[in-house]
Amino acid sequence: MSQKKILAVNWKMNPLPKGFDAPKGPYRSTNDVTVIVFPTALDIDACVAAKLTVGGQYGRAEEKGSFTGDVSMAMLKERGCTYVICGHSERRQKHGETLDDVHAQMLAASEAGLIPILCIGETANDRDANKTEQVVHEQLLSAIDGLSGEFIIAYEPAWAIGTGTAEIPTKIEAMHTTIRSWLPKGLREETPLIYGASVKPENAEAIFACPTVDGALVGIAALQPSSFQSIVDALHSSPL
Ligand code: PGA
Repeated sequence: MSQKKILAVNWKMNPLPKGFDAPKGPYRSTNDVTVIVFPTALDIDACVAAKLTVGGQYGRAEEKGSFTGDVSMAMLKERGCTYVICGHSERRQKHGETLDDVHAQMLAASEAGLIPILCIGETANDRDANKTEQVVHEQLLSAIDGLSGEFIIAYEPAWAIGTGTAEIPTKIEAMHTTIRSWLPKGLREETPLIYGASVKPENAEAIFACPTVDGALVGIAALQPSSFQSIVDALHSSPL
């Protein structure tokens, strides 16, 4: 398991929260917790200027070219990002990203010097068809094939994202254990594995009490500094 815990803040297509840059605000890393913010591409500069740890919500694998509306991994790096989200379920579902696309993004991110956060997780249909393990296994192994740099895994059951109802801790724990067992030996211990989907102040403590959970990817509950602060506090007080 990783030593330092991780909170990834996915602000999605929302304006920066008021006070995002406060010197003592919750969006800054501490000695125990690395906080990474993922603003829209338009707000990356402001977050870098505020000396936050910043990542891109998406980066295209190609370095440049005729890809209207996109930004590349190299551009994110050049702007001061250190991380990038790859394979978020909203991009898989709403932008039609395939396993091959996500794989190409992982390799390009690593090549550009970014640390990718690979999002994997089943949809409600996958779950109802008893295909959770099959789908998550394929998403994981196809994305990291041939990858040499470090990465973070976020297990995010797609059906729970944005609903306010997270997966139950015992199931998160079981899935994290399974995911870790699928990793190649050399990566099994050191690759951080975080949970995402409806993490909020009310459930953060129970989720962080799971020994296999190294942190969280937080969406809606990270839009308000006070609510995100409660999640930071819960992580700080969770067992190591
Ligand atoms: P949520 O989003 O916390 O709003 O469910 C999580 C995510 O999109 O990664």
